Amino acid sequence: MSKILVTYFSASGVTSKVAHNLAEALKADIFEIKPKIPYHRADLDWNNKNSRSTIEMNDINARPEIAAPADIASYDTIFVGFPIWWYTAPRIINTFFESADFSGKKVYLFATSGGSGLGNTVSNLKKICPAIVEGKMLNRGSVNEMQNWIASLSL
Ligand SMILES: Cc1cc2nc3c(=O)[nH]c(=O)nc-3n(C[C@H](O)[C@H](O)[C@H](O)COP(=O)(O)O)c2cc1C
Repeated sequence: MSKILVTYFSASGVTSKVAHNLAEALKADIFEIKPKIPYHRADLDWNNKNSRSTIEMNDINARPEIAAPADIASYDTIFVGFPIWWYTAPRIINTFFESADFSGKKVYLFATSGGSGLGNTVSNLKKICPAIVEGKMLNRGSVNEMQNWIASLSL
C-alpha cells in the first residue's frame, strides 16, 4: 500500500481543519508547514500594501523560511494544502516545493479560500514540482466532496 503524507500551511486554521479531516480519511500522517516567523494578524491584512503578506505576494521571488523541514523521503504520495492568497498559493508553498526532492512521488494540492478557485496555481507550481498531479478546492469541508475526490485518485 502506498504511504501517504498530508502536509499543510494554514495561517488562520481553516486549511488546518481540512488537512486533519483529509489525513483521517486517508489514514495518512500529517505535517504542518510552519513558517520560521509566524504570521500575525497584521501580517495577513490584504488591505495594507505594506503588510507582510502583501509584500511577499507582490514579489514572485519571496521565499519565507520554513521552521523545520518535512521528512518526505519515506512517502509515495504527498498532499499539500494551503489557503489561496491573492488568487494563488502563499510563497511559503514555493519554499516548500524547492526544499525537498519530490521526484518519483505523486503530489496532490488542496486549498481553501474565501471563494476564489485555484486559477493557474496548479500549472504554476508544476513548473517547480513536476510531481504535482492535480489540485482541488476543499472549501466547504464537505466530507462527501472530500471522499469523492479521494475515490477518484489512483492512490
Ligand atoms: C493575504 C491573504 C490573501 C487572500 N487572498 C484571497 C483571494 O485571493 N481569494 C480568496 O477567495 N480568498 C483569499 N483569502 C482568504 C483565504 O484564502 C481564506 O480565508 C482561507 O480559507 C484561509 O485559510 P487558513 O485559515 O488556513 O489560513 C486571502 C487571505 C489572506 C490572509
